[in-house]
Amino acid sequence: MTDYAMMLKQAEEMLAEEPWYVAAMSNLSALIMENMDGLNWAGFYLRRGGGLTVGPFQGKPACIHIPMGKGVCGTAAQRDETVVVPDVHAFPGHIACDSASRSEIVIPLHADGQVAGVLDIDSPLLNRFSAEDQEGLEQLVGLFQERMGGFPIAPQTLFGQEI
Ligand code: SME
Repeated sequence: MTDYAMMLKQAEEMLAEEPWYVAAMSNLSALIMENMDGLNWAGFYLRRGGGLTVGPFQGKPACIHIPMGKGVCGTAAQRDETVVVPDVHAFPGHIACDSASRSEIVIPLHADGQVAGVLDIDSPLLNRFSAEDQEGLEQLVGLFQERMGGFPIAPQTLFGQEI
């Protein structure tokens, strides 16, 4: 069983020290990968342009672009709801970044009341994600969103790109 209370506490500490979303997403991916058994991928896709682009994650290199409404990630982002897939082979349109993946959970995250991306977690085990996992992970996403809130949107650049 995953200790979500401990993960939430660690996430609180990380987010208090550095609320920059790249640092937060990177360490949250690592926290999830370290503390949940039976995963092969954990990380974020961010809303960018018309679709989703891969963000900080742990696992094998992944699909870079996912259109809204496509795959499990694009479906969760478009519906603006958590999608739990017990068997990815039975989900029409599942995008197989890693053929080992058998089950998946995707949770949308928000900024300014809009879907800003998703947290995507994959497992090579069938039916890996329980109702407790969904609840614990939604709490983590809720904490992340809460801590990201309240920052003024000030365009900044790094490597000549907007960050
Ligand atoms: N399986 C996802 C694609 C992302 S990878 O699993 C990392 C989907 O169907 O949206």
